Amino acid sequence: MNFSTKDSAKSLYNKRFKDPLPSTIYPLPQTIKEMHSKTISGFSKLPKTGKIQWLVDNFLSKNEAAVEELSSFWHSDEDLQKVLDGFSENTISNYPMPMGVAPNFSINGKQYAVPMVIEESSVVAAASSAAKFWLERGGFHAEVLSTVKIGQVHFLYEGDFELLNAHFETIKNELIADVKPITARMEKRGGGVTKIELLNLTHLEPNYYQLKVSFETCDSMGANFINSVLEQFGTSLKHYTQTHLQTSATIVMAILSNYTPDCIVRAWVECPIEDLAAACKDMDAATFAHKFYTAIRIAQIDPYRATTHNKGIFNGIDAVVLATGNDFRAVEACGHTHASRDGQYRSLSSCSIDKGIFKFWLDLPLAVGTVGGLTKLHPLAKRSLEILGNPNARELMQVIAVTGLAQNFGAVRSLVTTGIQQGHMKMHLMNILNHLGAQNGEVEATTAHFEERVVSFNGVREFLEQYRSKKAL
Ligand code: MEV
Repeated sequence: MNFSTKDSAKSLYNKRFKDPLPSTIYPLPQTIKEMHSKTISGFSKLPKTGKIQWLVDNFLSKNEAAVEELSSFWHSDEDLQKVLDGFSENTISNYPMPMGVAPNFSINGKQYAVPMVIEESSVVAAASSAAKFWLERGGFHAEVLSTVKIGQVHFLYEGDFELLNAHFETIKNELIADVKPITARMEKRGGGVTKIELLNLTHLEPNYYQLKVSFETCDSMGANFINSVLEQFGTSLKHYTQTHLQTSATIVMAILSNYTPDCIVRAWVECPIEDLAAACKDMDAATFAHKFYTAIRIAQIDPYRATTHNKGIFNGIDAVVLATGNDFRAVEACGHTHASRDGQYRSLSSCSIDKGIFKFWLDLPLAVGTVGGLTKLHPLAKRSLEILGNPNARELMQVIAVTGLAQNFGAVRSLVTTGIQQGHMKMHLMNILNHLGAQNGEVEATTAHFEERVVSFNGVREFLEQYRSKKAL
């Protein structure tokens, strides 16, 4: 539609729809010109100061204090700031997140301090506490079950499938030959393309076929490598079908799959039930084990609970994935697909009690890298990997899965014993005390006062005011 900027939004609306706008949003205050007055071309070309100034003028009510605030988070090392800016686009500042460490992890007999980047309170504390608990019970165990990554070339083909299939061995050889310049280095590291399958999916969508490609990407997550190979496969496939089969394949898209069910790691803990006695002071070990087992079963049965349960697992997983410069969206998407692999969303973790042995485990598909991407470019990702002893991708998979399991153990342990609010409230209390500028003696007195009481902002403020006025007497 071509409309004049002189038309008001109201008249434009009425031109398109017969009924008048509902009174709550009517009349619209702006003309189309005004509505577009905040549109800008070339924003990305502005320097950071220019971007901020434009935001202040257009979206921050000309609040100049915002300039100072946003620029106060720039790194003092200009070269480093350039590196950080280069990770994304249109950057105006850095967004700090807490980076913590959960010590005392024992994984396959090796000790780790696990770096975690997360904004939520209690997560690092819960991981640390679970790590310590299991340290005294044989530690965590982990094993990488397989490391296959998947990519797909989705294409349409209107020719004879039998003919295409008959040519497939030759096509595969051509595809492999054509990507040699891309795969040579990866092959030297022991990776590359490991399988190419032709899938006929025409029963789902007319003329729809797929090349399903398996990869080994060694210590890199491999997204760029996989996508480059797939795009070349698409070009080569189109060329082959055009020249040899007289019917050209139409390449719809070529892209890795973030679902990697065969790039999977298992993490577990186990101990005799009686060794769980210390897990809860108000419950015997057998009752605790049974309640814990039932909580995991509930998360396997009920999708509402499963979602929250798995969220707790990802509290741990995402924190390490972020700390090590990996792609947490890919890891989450993959985990949630895995959680719904039989058609219902279920718990990612499992529990068994058999012949007096309590076992708790997590099978997780996980595609992460220790080379490439941000892993070495972001100074803190690099430092995180160093804290972990510069692991290879397989070892990092184990650390991440263990942290997810530890987190899950900590959360479910709290849920079936004290409830989670007790721990949360301790942190909440500390945040309130910080906010109110509490000093040393005041912190101890308030903490003791609220040991058995419900924490609220007003409650803490009133207690502190009374405490301070009593001290002033
Ligand atoms: C909160 O971030 C995570 C939990 O809700 C997880 C769970 O309920 O298992 C405590």
